[in-house]
Amino acid sequence: MKVAISTGGGDAPGLNAVIRGAVLAAVHRGWQCAGIRRGFDGLLGEDEIVPLGAREVRGITHLGGTILGTTNRGDPFKWRVPAPDGGWIERDRSDELVAAFRAHGFDALITIGGDGTLGLALRLMAKGIPVVGVPKTIDNDVGGTVATFGFDTAVSTATEAIDKLHSTAESHQRVMVVEVMGRHAGFIALNSGLAGSADVILIPEIPFDLNKVCEKIRSREAEGRHFSIVVVAEGALPKGGMESYRDGERRRLGGIADRVALAIEQATGKETRSLVLGHLQRGGSPTTFDRLLGLRFGAAAVRFIAERRFGCMVALQPPAIVAVPIEEALATPKRVPLDSDSIATARDLGVSFGD
Ligand code: F6P
Repeated sequence: MKVAISTGGGDAPGLNAVIRGAVLAAVHRGWQCAGIRRGFDGLLGEDEIVPLGAREVRGITHLGGTILGTTNRGDPFKWRVPAPDGGWIERDRSDELVAAFRAHGFDALITIGGDGTLGLALRLMAKGIPVVGVPKTIDNDVGGTVATFGFDTAVSTATEAIDKLHSTAESHQRVMVVEVMGRHAGFIALNSGLAGSADVILIPEIPFDLNKVCEKIRSREAEGRHFSIVVVAEGALPKGGMESYRDGERRRLGGIADRVALAIEQATGKETRSLVLGHLQRGGSPTTFDRLLGLRFGAAAVRFIAERRFGCMVALQPPAIVAVPIEEALATPKRVPLDSDSIATARDLGVSFGD
């Protein structure tokens, strides 16, 4: 058995743990493994294919990033090549990829990625590549699994940042608005906001009313609490309004913290500062939880290959790691359930969602 492993999309802490779990589980079965570098680029002659054995995965569990590299621009079905007019042309290179997969003698592919990469995996499966997926994203927005690895580390990083903002906010009697990642899901904002004792948490699942946000800040002021911490998810949006984008063409989310901070300062007269945690949330050493989840996901992917359960994704459904059809996992992206215990807890603690 010869297994190819690829990591695609944005990186997330725990990727290396997955690679190590998969490689060692394969090696123990007497199988061979190889890594496709930078998403699928290695199979398209744009990068390398590297052997992966016990030696190559030694001492990597605690490392952030991915030893294989990654890209979120590597769609083989819509490969972008520069056009003579300075724009881009899209080419379908999927047949080339399938041919390369076969030429290397691979029997199965473990693809580690978020919804974009898992969607590509399904399309490659339809072209005859036996695939097992591993859900990865700091956003925690993949369906079918209670958690994706990387999320816990991102929440810890965000919580630590919020903790640090408290003292400066209080010393200066300011409002601090901190923007966290998460795309269209509010898990990072909700968990870090709750753990970091934020006063206001704005998430995409609950469009906010700025008047309500200001009400909360004023009521704290009236209680003698002259500072406030607002945690805003990058995908949060005002009631009846739009999400904020950093750029038009690729529609990358970002900029909501600035908008909210300006509006708060204008409405309350309180000095307000904003900051964006950005890619810090994707970096650093994975937490114990993410290392364990990564190792468990990687080893389970190999077990599912041994059982020939192709087209499935490994998923955490505590206490077990189970196989969920990728199609099913992608059908319903995960969002913060409005009736969740965390939302109820936040409300009980007096946190405002701006609603
Ligand atoms: O999906 C992970 C993520 O970090 C999102 O939270 C964020 O919106 C996006 O990727 C950022 O992507 P990029 O690395 O392309 O800026």
